[in-house]
Amino acid sequence: MKLTYYGHSVFVIQNNNFTGIVDPFIKGNSSCSQSLDDIPKLTHIFVTHGHGDHIGDTVELAKRDDALVICNAEIGRYLANQGVKVHTMHIGGRTKFDFGKIKMTPALHGSGIQIGDKTYDGGNPGGFLFYLNDKVIYHAGDTGLAMDMKLLADENVDIALLPIGGNYTMDIDDAVKAVEFIQPNLVVPMHYNTFDVIKADVNEFKEKVKNTEVKIINFSDSIEV
Ligand code: NI
Ligand code: MN
Repeated sequence: MKLTYYGHSVFVIQNNNFTGIVDPFIKGNSSCSQSLDDIPKLTHIFVTHGHGDHIGDTVELAKRDDALVICNAEIGRYLANQGVKVHTMHIGGRTKFDFGKIKMTPALHGSGIQIGDKTYDGGNPGGFLFYLNDKVIYHAGDTGLAMDMKLLADENVDIALLPIGGNYTMDIDDAVKAVEFIQPNLVVPMHYNTFDVIKADVNEFKEKVKNTEVKIINFSDSIEV
């Protein structure tokens, strides 16, 4: 299984015939030098919440690849109106797909979908647990630190993808606490340095995390998991 980071909260997970992207914010992502043409052919797109830096290029990519978008019911309604194929779930729901299982997790954040000067209801923000090939990957989405994360220790998370940039989400110190709650085997920091207001020193995060390996994935690099 391969995990590729495109900066911000954008990850591509490839496992056998499954190629899923999470929060495909490619155009306008200052930490991603890639264009949509560099994104591999997708089978699935996962959207954690409705903000522009997460819903991103979902519509264009979903139509390009005829990919199925998995997201909450409110974002799903918005995307279906754009002609996109969706499978809607909600917080706490766990579903078996042909590629593995998915569970939606809560996030402390907002989810409004801003289009021009209109805001559409994006429901509740969330994150995803991916159960793939005997591995469990947790993508937290945008979230503050939450006691609910203690429940994730029971999910035997192999890789936790956690925001560290502060201002809109957990900062470094809160993400360190989240790692203690979740107890993953490996943690990958995300959602930092894209904008001035979320600048964070990843090496400081790496130094502060104890008892868990921290893997800093450079933008557009991959790791085998
Ligand atoms: Ni957000
Ligand atoms: Mn964000």
